[in-house]
Amino acid sequence: MDRMLNVALPKGRLGEKVYDMFARAGFPCPSILENNRKLIFENPEAGVRYFWVKPSDVAIYVERGAADVGVAGKDILLEYQPEVYELLDLHTGVCRMAVAAPKGFAEDPMRTLRVATKFTNIAMDHYASKGRDIELIHLNGSIEIAPILGLSDVIVDIVETGTTLKENDLEVIETIVPITARLIANRSSFRFRQKEIRRLAEGLAALV
Ligand code: PRP
Repeated sequence: MDRMLNVALPKGRLGEKVYDMFARAGFPCPSILENNRKLIFENPEAGVRYFWVKPSDVAIYVERGAADVGVAGKDILLEYQPEVYELLDLHTGVCRMAVAAPKGFAEDPMRTLRVATKFTNIAMDHYASKGRDIELIHLNGSIEIAPILGLSDVIVDIVETGTTLKENDLEVIETIVPITARLIANRSSFRFRQKEIRRLAEGLAALV
C-alpha cells in the first residue's frame, strides 16, 4: 500500500454515524472514538486516515485533493457545485431544503420577495425556475430569526425534525429538494486509487 486513504468526515453527530459505517465497511480506526480535541486519526493497518472538518468544508478538502474521499450533504453539493465525483447516497442525514415563513404568511406576488438564507445559489435557482423576483439576504446561521424580525419575508433553510421552525412559529410553505449525505471522491484520487475507493464504496453500499 503506497499511502493511507485520506477521509474527510463532517464533525458532529452525522460524522459519528458515518464513521461507524466506514468502520463496518472495513476501514476501522478505533482511536477516533477517544473523546478528545484531536482532529486527525489514522490506522495504518486499515490504510486509512480520518479527519474531522466543518460539514460545509468537506467538499473543499475533497475537491482540492487534501482528502481522497469525504462525506457531504447534498445541500452543500447543490450550493457549491464542487468538482468532485458523487459516488453514493448514504441514506443518512435525511432532511430537506425548504422555504419557510411565519404561520399564516400570505405572499404578495406584486412585490419582490425577500429571502434570507445560507444557501443563496439554491434559493436563486429555485426562484429563477419559477420566474419569481427575489431579494437575497445572505446569513450564516440562525436563519429562522430573519422573518420574525422583519429582515426577510421567508427563509430557505434545512428542515430536519421541524422543531426549530415550530419553536419559532414558522412553517414550511414549500419543499425544494430532499437532502441526504453523499460519499464524494476527489477526481484524480478516484482515477489513481480506484481499487481502494471502490472497495470502500462497495462496502458502504452493502450497508445502505
Ligand atoms: C439546521 C437548520 C435549522 C435546523 C433544522 O441548523 O439551519 O436551523 O438545523 O433542524 P430541525 O428541523 O430538526 O429543528 P444547524 O444546527 O445546522 O445550525 P445553523 O442555524 O447555524 O444553520
